[in-house]
Amino acid sequence: MKKLIGIAAAASLALVLAGCAGGDGGTGAAEGPKALDELVVGFAQVGAESGWRTANTKDIQASFEEAGIELKFSDAQQKQENQIKAIRSYIQQGVDYIAFSPVVETGWDAVLNEAKAAGIPVVLTDRAVDSKDESLYVSFLGSDFIEEGKKAGQWVLDEYADVTEPVNIVQLEGTTGAAPAIDRAEGFADVIAENPNLEVIESQTGDFTRAGGKQVMEAMLKSNPDIDLVYAHNDDMGLGAIEAIEAAGLVPGQDIKIVTVDAVKDGMQALADGKINFIVECSPLLGAQLVDIIKTLNDGGTVEPRIITEETTFTQEQAIEALPDRQY
Ligand code: AHR
Repeated sequence: MKKLIGIAAAASLALVLAGCAGGDGGTGAAEGPKALDELVVGFAQVGAESGWRTANTKDIQASFEEAGIELKFSDAQQKQENQIKAIRSYIQQGVDYIAFSPVVETGWDAVLNEAKAAGIPVVLTDRAVDSKDESLYVSFLGSDFIEEGKKAGQWVLDEYADVTEPVNIVQLEGTTGAAPAIDRAEGFADVIAENPNLEVIESQTGDFTRAGGKQVMEAMLKSNPDIDLVYAHNDDMGLGAIEAIEAAGLVPGQDIKIVTVDAVKDGMQALADGKINFIVECSPLLGAQLVDIIKTLNDGGTVEPRIITEETTFTQEQAIEALPDRQY
């Protein structure tokens, strides 16, 4: 684990340890708490690349509205320079807190130091940054992506436990340099390494989009006639792969098995329909916990530096059962 190791905590609002800090502890509450309707939070979102992202944006906006806290929102269209610009603009506007989901892991120290110099606490949501200086952010709220990759790998390991021939796996990676792309690949590779028959024969980025997944899968099908399984780093790329597989006259879920991460409604429907074989959940519902972190900091409390989201996995039967109540 590169960052913030070993501070795992189950996701819950109770993670927040209100009232523990002496002074402002970098929380920005030195002058005493502000009324919630006076607080301003700037949120720099990655983009709108996937169903997961859309659900995450909706949940964050709805949670702040419900809490009566002003949220300034920007969409970086998956470009780091746009996110840096948005953060600089929040610093200039003198917001009380900044939250963001970094499009890629590296390259944040300069802008985060600017936020620190301006006394604006930063909360990372969903994705981590790769920085040696952990004082640049107050907390990182989000999934354990390595664990997600391991869960995907474990399903593959079990599914092919009795197979004695090579299993050809292709991987549809998320955005190059993004924490979930790096970590989901790492967790998966670690687990499947236990069986030498399981081989990732090709791995390409589909940038977490459906169109990207489709395009990459089309090319992979042309260059590899014997693909047994697709491991897609999110549902959207898996759904794009389904389109490419069907267009090639093959049956997704049967001729080529598919494992994805996220469990958004469209992915769950494809799992229920037997076109995807297994989904590892990644929850986009981070809004309530983020609001709670902001409230605690505003009250002069401290928060855990790492808050891990609770998640599960879905088989076809479990997807059929869960679908009617799925919120996103
Ligand atoms: O960072 C979370 C990932 O980003 C989701 O798995 C993916 O769908 C999104 O684009």
